[in-house]
Amino acid sequence: MYICVCNAITERQVRASVDAGATTLSDLQFELGVATCCGCCAATAAEYLPGGRCSSVCDVRSIAVPVNPPATVAEPGAPAANSSFPIALVATA
Ligand code: FES
Repeated sequence: MYICVCNAITERQVRASVDAGATTLSDLQFELGVATCCGCCAATAAEYLPGGRCSSVCDVRSIAVPVNPPATVAEPGAPAANSSFPIALVATA
């Protein structure tokens, strides 16, 4: 998602800059150029700084969902071959 449309700065870039040590909007402006044109994105960018609403609450990086889980088919009543996948797949006839 773009945070700064004027400078094509994405949320990922802002998060990476904060992870690398940016703590103020001035840091983000210096590092990325965010909020250096029209300024409409300044408040949004600031929410990603430490203490901002998106500094941890919006952290979607910690949610990992397998996109292509292994195609495992277990016999009825038998434990799933890949017990790390939370949903046991059972063949039906
Ligand atoms: S949207 Fe970021 S400076 Fe305009």
